[in-house]
Amino acid sequence: MRWSPLLAALPVLAAACTRTAPADEGIALSPQAAKGKALFSTHCATCHAPAARVVGPPLSEIAGLYATDPEGIVRWAVEPGRKRTDVPPMPSFRGMRASDLADVAQYIIEAGTAAGKQKP
Ligand code: HEC
Repeated sequence: MRWSPLLAALPVLAAACTRTAPADEGIALSPQAAKGKALFSTHCATCHAPAARVVGPPLSEIAGLYATDPEGIVRWAVEPGRKRTDVPPMPSFRGMRASDLADVAQYIIEAGTAAGKQKP
C-alpha cells in the first residue's frame, strides 16, 4: 500500500523523461556520429533542435534534405546559403576543420532521422 503514490507517479515521470530525451535517445550512433555529437552540442545546438524549429530548421528537416549527402551539410556550414527568409542568416563555420564538420553532419543525419520517426 505504501508504494501506491510512487507507482501512480511513474507514468508522469516517464512522460517527463520522454519529453526531454535527446534526438538520439535509444538509437545506436555510428562511431563517426558519436564524435560529431559533442561538436554539434557546442556549435550547432543553440539554433538547431531535434524536431522543432528554434532559429534554424530542426534536425529532422535537415536529415530529410541531406540523408544521402553529408558533404552538402559541410558545404552549407562553411558557406551557408539563404533559404528561409523569416529567420536571420546562419553564420559560417569556416573556422572548423572539415573532418569535424563531417562528423557533425553524420550526427545530424542519424539523430535527425531518428527524431523524424518519433511520434510528436
Ligand atoms: C546562430 C544560429 C545557428 C547556428 C549556431 C547554426 N545554425 Fe544552421 N541554420 C541557422 C539558420 C537561421 C538556418 C536557416 C537559414 C536559411 O534557410 O536561410 C540554418 C540552416 C541550416 C541547415 C539547412 C541547409 C538547407 O539546405 O536548408 C543546415 C544543414 C545547417 N544549418 C547546419 C548547421 C551546422 C552543421 C551547424 C553547426 C556547425 C549550424 N547549422 C549552426 C542557424 C544556425
